Amino acid sequence: MSFRRRVSHALGDRGLPLRLLALKHIAHALIPGYRLKYPQLDWWSNEPFNQYLDRFYERKGHNTDRRWIIHQLLRLTTNVAGDTAECGVFAGAGSYLILRANERDNLHKRTHYMFDSFEGLSQPDTADGSYWQAGDMAMAEDAVRHNLRDCSNYVAMKGWIPSRFAEVAGRRFSFVHIDVDLYEPTRDSLAFFLPRMTAGGIIVVDDYGFATCPGASQAVDDILRHGPEKMLAMPDGGGFLIKGQATADGAQLDSSTHYQK
Ligand SMILES: C[S@@+](CC[C@H](N)C(=O)[O-])C[C@H]1O[C@@H](n2cnc3c(N)ncnc32)[C@H](O)[C@@H]1O
Repeated sequence: MSFRRRVSHALGDRGLPLRLLALKHIAHALIPGYRLKYPQLDWWSNEPFNQYLDRFYERKGHNTDRRWIIHQLLRLTTNVAGDTAECGVFAGAGSYLILRANERDNLHKRTHYMFDSFEGLSQPDTADGSYWQAGDMAMAEDAVRHNLRDCSNYVAMKGWIPSRFAEVAGRRFSFVHIDVDLYEPTRDSLAFFLPRMTAGGIIVVDDYGFATCPGASQAVDDILRHGPEKMLAMPDGGGFLIKGQATADGAQLDSSTHYQK
């Protein structure tokens, strides 16, 4: 192969393994243990999805995998009766996906409830570590309404969680996204919504499994300890459960105990 062809292979699609290797070495030098993924994923070039990401300035962000999985999980609840909710709304990107799915599932005429202080995080607990501070992630309600300007059937429930939950205590839910970063509001949200889910409904906890949100992970495990449903931890962070779907503990993958016997 000529030198020119070799260079063009090295830079084009056929040269991807080489560039990935270079990226891997650079990444490992900067962040030891960092794991890359193969970029030949269909959803990375899904144009409607990328336009959605652009709308919230997220195409180059770190959250795109979790956005995609929510978009997919919502498909599982298409025949599940109930309203939807998001606890922790920020700019509205999670609610937007839910609202678009609700338009598709219009048989159920769902209302979407958005719970947020619209003043950022509440005071972190000792369980939350030191990563977050009160007031982080503040986004004004007007800005969220602007971002959702072409969406309908939602209600913004401004207030500190759980102060406004009582207003929806008599409703049933098909899909709930909990994304409040901290122990207390995660615990209160999960404890409130879990018994109000229709069988087959899904709860996603965005912060589950993040070292930056130890309180949120602990809250989930505390609430689910004695129930049949457990969080299924997703590979890019966050977890979900399906109401009424008993979930086994993870299998023991480390066989060293076997060899010790
Ligand atoms: C990570 S952001 C939510 C991101 C959003 N779910 C998304 O998909 O883009 C966390 C949100 O939780 C809200 N929040 C945190 N603690 C809260 C509390 N105790 N009561 C009400 N809202 C709270 C913050 O105001 C912030 O908007």
